[in-house]
Order: sequence, then structure tokens, then C-alpha cells
Amino acid sequence: MERIFYPATQRRLRADEHIRELTATVRLSHKSFIQPLFVDEALTSPRAVKGLASVQVDTIGSVLQTIESDLKNGISKFLLFPVPANKSEIIFDFSFATTVVKRIKDVFGDAVWLSADVCLCSYTSHGHCGILNKEQSVLLNGETVNVLTKYAIQLANAGADCIAPSDMMDGRIAAIRSALNAFGHDTVSIMSYAAKFSSQFYGPFRDACHSSPQANVLKNRKTYQISPFNINDAIASALRDEKEGADILMVKPAALYTDVIAKLKQQTIKPVAAYHVSGEYAAIESLAAQNLLNRDAAHLETWAALTRSGADIIISYAARSAKNWIEQASI
Ligand code: PBG
Repeated sequence: MERIFYPATQRRLRADEHIRELTATVRLSHKSFIQPLFVDEALTSPRAVKGLASVQVDTIGSVLQTIESDLKNGISKFLLFPVPANKSEIIFDFSFATTVVKRIKDVFGDAVWLSADVCLCSYTSHGHCGILNKEQSVLLNGETVNVLTKYAIQLANAGADCIAPSDMMDGRIAAIRSALNAFGHDTVSIMSYAAKFSSQFYGPFRDACHSSPQANVLKNRKTYQISPFNINDAIASALRDEKEGADILMVKPAALYTDVIAKLKQQTIKPVAAYHVSGEYAAIESLAAQNLLNRDAAHLETWAALTRSGADIIISYAARSAKNWIEQASI
């Protein structure tokens, strides 16, 4: 048989795992990962979250065991979501959240880097991320920023290493940065949910935090979170947060928004974090449960996509498996 040569072959570079490893343009490390943690004041024992296998809502006691086990798996960076037992509309009690932060830092000290979510959605009886007007038709910007700023200071006083505002009000980064500085917390960083979209993919999270918006008039978060149909707003919001003092800029959701990650990365020298959110995670889990994909490989493929597009940091519910999966991955 006549041998045909293809001078433009690319398949030599795909021929075996050695050459695929050597020529990979993306290398993952568990060191770039942040693990979200949920702690609910109302629980007496941990509970599972619908759709989120391998994630539970902890009690203030069980979260310490969760962190201990995560440290053994090479995960030392966390994003904490405290869920208070009592909901309100105007007056909020942040003492549960600060107790959790203090407990974690007392037990683990500098072995963990603890960032704390700053938002009111798990505090409000209507589930919105801030304070509403009387008619429950408008989320009030200034009033909300004032409360969030006080919350951020209390978290920093309790020992949080990083404040992560996810409310999407205007001006909150500047307000929080200057208040942190004024209270002597100039070393506490801010990871801003800079490009946070109004997404369908937050469902399992809202189940974990009891935070679905259910006000009289305002039924969704479209007046404060970014429209998926508007990338300009996402870039403008992120660059605005950078100017106001954010240290890390987050894009959320992640896998459906790799164009946003890529575009933002070109316009900033700040680290970009990608939050692979609960619904994106649960979609993989659900296909895996039906044997329609390999779970570990699907998460690795997603993380590779986020890294390729420019993410420096990945927030994933499967962070605690990252080290194992990356080590064992066959590329
Ligand atoms: C609260 C908040 C949300 C998430 C993080 N912080 C949900 C929302 O905006 O409704 C979503 C995270 C996830 O789905 O994994 N503002």
C-alpha cells in the first residue's frame, strides 16, 4: 500500500499521554482553589443540599471537622456563607456569622485563609440581597451599603482574611474599603463579586441558604444583578470595582461566562476568580448520576476551560477533590 504523508499533521502531538502532558497549555493546581462552606445556625446536625453531592450545610461544630478534612486534602482557602436562624427586614444581627468566623480562626489560625460572603439575602425575610422600600418594589442602594459596611467591619474584627461582597449594590467596594482602613483592617482584602449575573444557576445555593427572592412586588434580582445579555455592563462593573479598591475580581457564574472572564482578564492586572456556581456544579452531578459522563473528568474539563479563558482562581464545590483528581487525571 502506498504510504501517504500529511505534512500538516497535528496528531503527533496527541499520540500518547506523555506528549499530551508535555504540550498542555493549561496546568491545574489545587492551590488555586477556594472551597465554599455553608453554616446554618438553625441546624442541630449537618444537612445535605439538593443537587450538591459532597457538599453539606454544616453546624458551627461540624464545620470545624469539614475544614480539618479539607486541609488534609490540600484545601486551605474557604468562602464562608453563614445562615442565621432569624430573618428580618431592617435590623440584622450578625453575631452568628462573627461567632463562626472567630471559631474557625481561633481553631485554625493562619492555616486557613477565610473569606466571608457579605450579602443580606440569607438575613432578609423576603430573600433579597438588601433593604427594600415599604412597597417591596425597590432595593434601596444607600441603606443597603450602610448595613453591608457594618457587617464587613464586624467580620474583619472577628478575623476574616477577606471580605467578599455579593450584593451588587453600587459603591459598596469603596464604602467597605474605606471603612476597613478606618478600623485598622488595611490588610484585609476584598474579593468583589464584580461581574455577577442574574442567573438561573443559583438554585441549589438558594436552597442551602433559604435565599430565594419572594417580595410582594420585586420577584427577581434583575434590578441589581447583571443581565446575561449585556457583557458591557459586566466589564464596566468589574473595572469600577477595581477602581474602588477590590483586590480580586470575580466572574459568576463561570462556565457559561468564559467570554467575560477572557475579556476582563485582558483589561485588568488584578487576579480574576471564576465561581463555578451551584447549578453549574449540579448539572455535572446530575449527568454523572445518570452515567452520562465521568464526573471527575467533567469537572477537570470545566476547570481547564476556566483556566484557559484566564481565571487565576477557581471557586468550586468540588475544590476538596481537586488535588486527588488533578494528580490522577489522565490528560
Ligand atoms: C448571594 C449569593 C448567591 C450566590 C452566592 N452569593 C445567590 C444569589 O445571588 O441568589 C450563588 C452561589 C451559587 O449558586 O453557587 N447574593
